[in-house]
Amino acid sequence: MHANAPFHTSAIMRITNLSTFFFTPQGIIKAVRDLSLALHAGRTTALVGESGCGKSITALSILGLVPEPGRIVNGEIYFEQRDLTLLSQDQLRRIRGNQIAMVFQDPMTALNPVFSIGAQIEEVLLLHRGLSRKEARIKAAELLHQVGIPSAQERLDSFPHQLSGGMRQRAMIAMALACDPQILIADEPTTALDVTIQAQIMHLLHTQQQERNMGILLISHDLGIVAQHADHIALMYAGMVVEQGDTFSIFEHPQHPYTRHLLNCVHAENRREGATAAPHTPESWEERYRPRTSGLPPMQDIGNGHRVRSWEVPV
Ligand SMILES: Nc1ncnc2c1ncn2[C@@H]1O[C@H](COP(=O)(O)OP(=O)(O)OP(=O)(O)O)[C@@H](O)[C@H]1O
Ligand SMILES: [Mg+2]
Repeated sequence: MHANAPFHTSAIMRITNLSTFFFTPQGIIKAVRDLSLALHAGRTTALVGESGCGKSITALSILGLVPEPGRIVNGEIYFEQRDLTLLSQDQLRRIRGNQIAMVFQDPMTALNPVFSIGAQIEEVLLLHRGLSRKEARIKAAELLHQVGIPSAQERLDSFPHQLSGGMRQRAMIAMALACDPQILIADEPTTALDVTIQAQIMHLLHTQQQERNMGILLISHDLGIVAQHADHIALMYAGMVVEQGDTFSIFEHPQHPYTRHLLNCVHAENRREGATAAPHTPESWEERYRPRTSGLPPMQDIGNGHRVRSWEVPV
């Protein structure tokens, strides 16, 4: 096991010291900095943080889809004894949508508007599973049924715009599940949906995870949702994970000022009060948490895989 491995149990994916930067004419944007996390079979690891903190770029780094002018500048992404950062686009294409699948925030950007739902799911099955057209159609209907789409057989011929937001999200989950992935990356899978549908989709992801023993990377800006659904949490701020650990430990013993701030917001929301004005910008972080010109604070292990980014071992 790597010295920086965040969790103790065996992992199906282990990311260590990942950094992904954008080399723009205006300068270098450090979208992801020294990120380490692990995904486990049948478990959910959540990546939480405010807009622009680097959650999606982390996901795209795993899939080898970081757009220009961005690139992975450091780190390893181990999956099935291979470092994904060293694979060719061809090798990655065989893994994407097959062993590692992704559900996006907005299904309209991921689903092709000119093809029926059925055709799009069948395409994944033809590409990765080598099924015949007929077999693929039967399997596609089965998948739609599994994700709770009524009249699945008829729905195969529907186009994305003919479905409600919740049904579109279910169809996209069906497409992601088509090849029985070991890892599902869900990037804000419910943000565009109302609260009732949100709960249904999260429940669907959970039941499918149990049945298939998938590892899920759940990306969200909502610590409330994450509290209910994640086994492990990594909190990101400005490209770096500032604290990570199992959900109970993070909620019971938060160490970092940013984590405490986010938790205060959740508690205030539960009590329907305004969020407290807890300090959460690096400028106001205590000396032991703030990045210095010499670099980022190192990750300190405070036991049981609970880690906080600090210059000193937290007390
Ligand atoms: N194509 C790009 N060119 C330059 N910089 C980019 C590009 N895409 C992302 N970035 C930078 O990477 C940072 C992280 O972006 P990312 O999309 O990962 O944020 P996020 O945490 O997913 O935010 P959100 O919650 O809004 O989806 C952004 O702050 C942005 O500055
Ligand atoms: Mg994002």
